Amino acid sequence: MTEAAQTREERATALKGLGTARKRVEDVRFTQGKGNYVDDIKLDGMLFGDFVRSPYAHAKVLSINTEAATALPGVVAVLTAADLEPLGLHWMPTLAGDKQMVLADGKVLFQGQEVAFVIAEDRYIAADAVELVEVEYEEQPVIVDPFKALEPDAPVLREDIRDQLEGAHGPRKHNNHIFTWEQGDKAATEAVLAGADVVAEEMVYYHRTHPCPLETCGCVASMDKVNGKLTLYGTFQAPHAVRTVASLISGIAEHNIRVISPDIGGGFGNKVGVYPGYICSVVASIVTGKPVKWVEDRIENLTSTAFARDYWMKGKIAATKDGKITGLWCHTTADHGAFDACADPTKFPAGFMNICTGSYDIPTAYLSVDGVYTNKAPGGVAYRCSFRVTEAAYFIERMIEVLAIKLGMDAAELRRINFIRADQFPYQSALGWEYDSGNYHAAWEKAMKAVDYEGLRAEQAKRLEDFKAGKTRKLMGIGLTHFTEIVGAGPVKNCDILGLGMFDSCEIRIHPTGSAIARLGTISQGQGHATTFAQILASEIGIPADDITVEEGDTDTAPYGLGTYGSRSTPVAGAATAMAGRKIRAKAQMIAAYLLEVHDDDVEFDVDRFVVKGAPERFKTMKEIAFASYNQAIPGVEPGLEAVSYYDPPNMTYPFGAYVCVVDVDVDTGVTDIRQFYALDDCGTRINPMIIEGQVHGGLTEALAIAMGQEMAYDEIGNVKTATLMDFFWPSPFETPNYQTDWTTTPSPHHPIGAKGVGESPNVGGVPCFSNAVHDAFRPFGLTQTNMPHDHWRVWKVAHDLGL
Ligand code: CDP
Repeated sequence: MTEAAQTREERATALKGLGTARKRVEDVRFTQGKGNYVDDIKLDGMLFGDFVRSPYAHAKVLSINTEAATALPGVVAVLTAADLEPLGLHWMPTLAGDKQMVLADGKVLFQGQEVAFVIAEDRYIAADAVELVEVEYEEQPVIVDPFKALEPDAPVLREDIRDQLEGAHGPRKHNNHIFTWEQGDKAATEAVLAGADVVAEEMVYYHRTHPCPLETCGCVASMDKVNGKLTLYGTFQAPHAVRTVASLISGIAEHNIRVISPDIGGGFGNKVGVYPGYICSVVASIVTGKPVKWVEDRIENLTSTAFARDYWMKGKIAATKDGKITGLWCHTTADHGAFDACADPTKFPAGFMNICTGSYDIPTAYLSVDGVYTNKAPGGVAYRCSFRVTEAAYFIERMIEVLAIKLGMDAAELRRINFIRADQFPYQSALGWEYDSGNYHAAWEKAMKAVDYEGLRAEQAKRLEDFKAGKTRKLMGIGLTHFTEIVGAGPVKNCDILGLGMFDSCEIRIHPTGSAIARLGTISQGQGHATTFAQILASEIGIPADDITVEEGDTDTAPYGLGTYGSRSTPVAGAATAMAGRKIRAKAQMIAAYLLEVHDDDVEFDVDRFVVKGAPERFKTMKEIAFASYNQAIPGVEPGLEAVSYYDPPNMTYPFGAYVCVVDVDVDTGVTDIRQFYALDDCGTRINPMIIEGQVHGGLTEALAIAMGQEMAYDEIGNVKTATLMDFFWPSPFETPNYQTDWTTTPSPHHPIGAKGVGESPNVGGVPCFSNAVHDAFRPFGLTQTNMPHDHWRVWKVAHDLGL
């Protein structure tokens, strides 16, 4: 069929643009072994690095003897802090404005800390040499409890900043204190609490866990001493930021550094920060003149790279007798480990914890956060969430349940009467955010109907009767959650990391034959950007998505961007893509008008072409326009068809969701069986429903892991008890339930195509939902709060302690 003979609908379908369940184009490579991960990179003469790590959580380093290791055939060098010190590289700046040892400088502060870096001709020799490095330690008292860290006589962990009264985020009140961050109106909130009909109070702990991506962290540094260029390949979620930081730390001019993120096997926040392995590999490559590869093993990844959560959230929530919430108070003690290396925008030392009023119209609120040093690994990151929003969502969704218990109310009804109403958007929260759009009541009603909420409650009541009559030993729990996410950092005026404003970018080049390449400042780690960004463009510029290549991750070719984390790709880079597409379209309009011999205003865009208004038989397709842009001299128009957009979002986007989980809990074994999980997500305009569903499935499975078993556990002397996948829970298909997905669509009013992020929503909403389900099962027996993860032992213990 000729293009002219196709109907408008057929032409639109052929584009595979917005709303199409287009198959993931990247999967052809991934499923056929053609992925190119950092450990696949092999360069001529490449050497291998490996770390000597501390077995102690807190110890003085009295001496390091590298003689035996250096003498091992195949070992090229062994670096210690003493070697890095003359270069000023034995400490490095962190993303949070603190500094962190690259290699142990006088003492170690957590188990697994980097002490020396061995460089050898192969990986096995490097590992053998690690065993030959002799380190003499003198153990020091260990603190793993952030509350004990703040006791007056607690040992000082950070000797380097002893008695320093100011930190990167204001005054410090103790040697193990990092910052205090306050938001909201303290006096007004305390007044509301003092005069309230009802106040529910609880300590909500969100335990320490780890993003634990399938592919661990690693890099290959290659310094070409002839042309002075450093190429750094790595599993980086923010390649441009790594380039800038590498330049600032090393003194190598930024144009002489090329950072390449090849395929990435999952990031989830773990690959945002800068690790000692990167610095040591670069130094080793400069010193040896050869490429140096460093790739962690699983134990190293879990024990020394960025953890997640570890927030102790003390909450008070005030309400009238009939359940209208009047105030919220929260004090968080945030365990940041040995160095404050949290990846948060500069002005937000506890990330977006101040989204903790959630989906509710809470008139008065106050939040304070104390950051604390302990003898644990540094690097608190947003594990599939936007800068601590998951802690905030967990906190408020638990507090709602606790309040419902105190009021003797149904938790679904309590939520319903407190939701921000659709007519209140844009909504100004008491803790400073402007929610862009939402219709929480509509989503909630849809969810309640879909699961037959009343039917479930009736079944639960019957089960309880049977339990009490001794007919069953299984309780039934119904978990509810309505979460509001905050994703898409910037705007630049509010959000920067190390002074780099959080915008993002897209550059498009249309080739003469009408296909295109789009390059972005983001980097996919499994989210399917190559598929979905092409779909945005297809709808914007009328070129089929199949004819558009999407390229990310090479700082020599991609425009500067702040990278992919915090579900910011769609809200920021997705917007940049649409805006760059619109620039292409504007130029294409001029070319079309010239070719059709009419005024610019007399042509209009129609799916994949410009047509003369009122004469649809007269048109030029985008393909024709692309060719003309390269072969015709058009007065007043430059040749070629290219555009770039740097997009500074005016606001965040606020996706939301309504989740329901039904669980059976065996009180004798603590075994939990997730019978049903319903997830309704609203991410505004949906680009690719199939990819969204995949994101939701993946995020829910990570939420299941976190809520039901996954944790970074330490003993009292700082040994990591969950350093392997034997102990650190990763759900297999056996534990993973079926998910029922659903949606509503409330576009973002400020995003060019109305899209909000979605990648993290299921983690943010899933964790409280699983947890609330377990809590709900025990509600009739007086349980108000118990700590995650709800593994079989802990659940059994709850039942046992309740006398069941
Ligand atoms: O930043 P990140 O890619 O992790 O998260 P995201 O922006 O939420 O996008 C995750 C994936 O879902 C991408 O492939 C998006 O294009 C897709 N998505 C979508 O199809 N529609 C939306 N409204 C949001 C995301």
